[in-house]
Amino acid sequence: MQTKTEEGWRPAPVPGTSSLTQVREAARDCTACPLYKRATQTVFGEGPKGAPIMLVGEQPGDYEDVAGKPFVGPAGKIMDRALEEAGIDRKQVYVTNAVKHFKWEPRGKRRIHQKPNSREIAACRPWLEAELRLVRPKLLLCLGSTAGQAIFGPSFRVTRERGRLLSAKLAPKVVATVHPSSLLRQPDEESRQREYAHFVADLRIALRAAGQK
Ligand code: URA
Repeated sequence: MQTKTEEGWRPAPVPGTSSLTQVREAARDCTACPLYKRATQTVFGEGPKGAPIMLVGEQPGDYEDVAGKPFVGPAGKIMDRALEEAGIDRKQVYVTNAVKHFKWEPRGKRRIHQKPNSREIAACRPWLEAELRLVRPKLLLCLGSTAGQAIFGPSFRVTRERGRLLSAKLAPKVVATVHPSSLLRQPDEESRQREYAHFVADLRIALRAAGQK
């Protein structure tokens, strides 16, 4: 159970404002879970208020943690390529993560990505709720299981729900697909191409569901 007094777990300090800039600024000081201790900075979402589509990933990676921006590393690069191919302009969509601090473990000199747990996802959810409340996207696109679990709860499975139009309390229209980093982990060129094409097809489903095509 989350308590106010337990070390490293405090309610996310989300201000009750309609200013996305003020919410982003408040998120800089978030200590809602212990992940802030090892991360360089909070990586908040980016994109225009009123964007028709919001993309939600898992958490910032190594590159994003340093840059302070979501999806700027290798997963972001392949996502950008797929967005362009699907006819989606990244500058017109809002891109964020379910968890806004990089969770990692040291291995030698490297920082190795760790999957956030359900408690960390829940602690960070008020920020995602605030982003949804203020951006009001027509469609929310969940990239991978962590994003899906942040919206639908821990039993959500991307393999089961992928490419279907769903609905949630937090967002009237939701589509889920795989995380773009899974495209980078494919064992051979054939599966890489097949999975990439499937990902682009899911993006097109999202675009249509958002009423943008
Ligand atoms: N993976 C994510 O889920 N989000 C990022 O911002 C980068 C990599």
